[in-house]
Amino acid sequence: MTIKKICGIGAGYVGGPTCSVIAMMCPDIRVTVVDKSKEKIAQWNSDKLPIYEPGLDVVVEKCRGKNLFFSTDIEAAIKEADLIFISVNTPTKTFGIGKGRAADLKYVENTARMIADVATSDKIVVEKSTVPVRAAESIMHILRANHKPGVSYQILSNPEFLAEGTAIDNLMNPDRVLIGGEDSPQGREAVEKLCKIYENWIKRDKIFTTNTWSSELSKLAANAFLAQRISSINSLSAVCEATGADVTEVARAVGLDSRIGSKFLQASVGFGGSCFQKDLLNLVYICECLNLPEVAAYWQQVIDMNEYQKSRFSTKVIESLFNTVTDKRITMLGFAFKKNTGDTRESPAISVAKNLLDEGAVLHIYDPKVEESQIIDNLSAFDVDNIKNRVNIYHDAYSATKNTHAIVLCTEWDEFIELDYERIYSEMTKPAYIFDGRKILDHEKLQKIGFIVQTIGKRVSRIAVSRTWGSPTQM
Ligand code: NAD
Ligand code: UDX
Repeated sequence: MTIKKICGIGAGYVGGPTCSVIAMMCPDIRVTVVDKSKEKIAQWNSDKLPIYEPGLDVVVEKCRGKNLFFSTDIEAAIKEADLIFISVNTPTKTFGIGKGRAADLKYVENTARMIADVATSDKIVVEKSTVPVRAAESIMHILRANHKPGVSYQILSNPEFLAEGTAIDNLMNPDRVLIGGEDSPQGREAVEKLCKIYENWIKRDKIFTTNTWSSELSKLAANAFLAQRISSINSLSAVCEATGADVTEVARAVGLDSRIGSKFLQASVGFGGSCFQKDLLNLVYICECLNLPEVAAYWQQVIDMNEYQKSRFSTKVIESLFNTVTDKRITMLGFAFKKNTGDTRESPAISVAKNLLDEGAVLHIYDPKVEESQIIDNLSAFDVDNIKNRVNIYHDAYSATKNTHAIVLCTEWDEFIELDYERIYSEMTKPAYIFDGRKILDHEKLQKIGFIVQTIGKRVSRIAVSRTWGSPTQM
């Protein structure tokens, strides 16, 4: 039997784009994406998709209503499917054992129970969510303990490696597809069926099959390695600021070694996103449970370094502004955790905003893709007095910067590079500061305009500004 019908449970950042691309590349397969959120499914069925991802709307437009469907009828979709992708969220636990570290598998478990309840035919169940190593065992336990006569299951691990903002390209041209399965004839057959789906557009030599536990652990390991590179370069950015070395030059020199490579060495205000911190915490927790405290401490340091970087940047802003930002108007350019997404989960901008609000600042925030309600929601989670009057959301960079004392750039949106900074400078309170947390701006040019510029991993050479804040002269 080849796979004719797929059900994707979870219509989020992973489930939506992944199933849409499968539908586009496999016109003979009917793909139904389901979610318990009515609102989200309604958005997937509308012109305004629930997530911003470059190129996604074109893919959805091509397939929706043909072989791609979005629905809240989870039971019906499970019943008819030959293969089910589980792409539900696996957040960090907020209570109980493992609070603040372990992955909360309640959504995965609910999904497994629902499959066991409604399935009346054999299913291949694929973990696409990022899970702790050996999670497939728990899923199998639930399915087999509740199975109906004549219904059998195979569980595969097929972690997703896409990055937000480049999801469609990552899905179309992945570095690899990883599939883990049981080492048995039925397990190997299930792996083969999933391989066949991907082979519709991905060369076989990019599809790597392993045992289930290696596949689950490799996903955590890949994210841990990526995050570790960022924390490594960020740690060196502090050394650069203290010594006069330039972290961009150091990253280039180091990355030119072909054994190291140049990617993921961009020093920044810190990494964000829904995955790195969550998956590192999960890895640390697993290591502690396995009685491997040295390994746990090693990976914990990657998270600690990221926290240090975020607070170091906030402190730099406050110290530069004469050690007080109380009642100062500060523009935040960018609120998403990276460019080309509207996602703010674990965005470093949230930490910076909180630190500035704690010091009494008034924030003027602009992000090209983050909804106003999202920003307010994120900041309302903190106990900040009078947040409504102290957080102002703007719909363009020029209004957001008008009459403010400083610009703090937290997301590397391309449009921030192209802004008319002469105009911005002329409308700001003087002295006007820019803190470039992403190292994307032309610092020399900004200084010539009159800005006082600070960035990460480099001492920007000082320019003396005359008392009347007139034309600057190089020191
Ligand atoms: P998300 O929160 O955007 O989406 C998850 C969706 O699952 C939500 O819409 C939620 O309503 C739905 N859901 C939860 N329980 C459900 C149930 N029982 N039935 C139906 N729907 C249910 O999460 P995401 O960012 O798409 O991440 C999903 C998984 O993929 C996580 O394990 C994550 O670690 C992993 N992952 C995420 C990324 C990423 O870039 N976001 C990349 C790789 C892997
Ligand atoms: C990450 C992984 O890259 C992806 O493979 C996995 O499936 C999910 O987690 P994502 O979080 O979407 O993807 O984005 P990513 O591009 O990895 O960036 C994560 C964070 O690190 C962002 O805040 C980004 O700005 C930051 N970053 C990235 C740096 O600070 N420096 C870099 O060199 C690279």
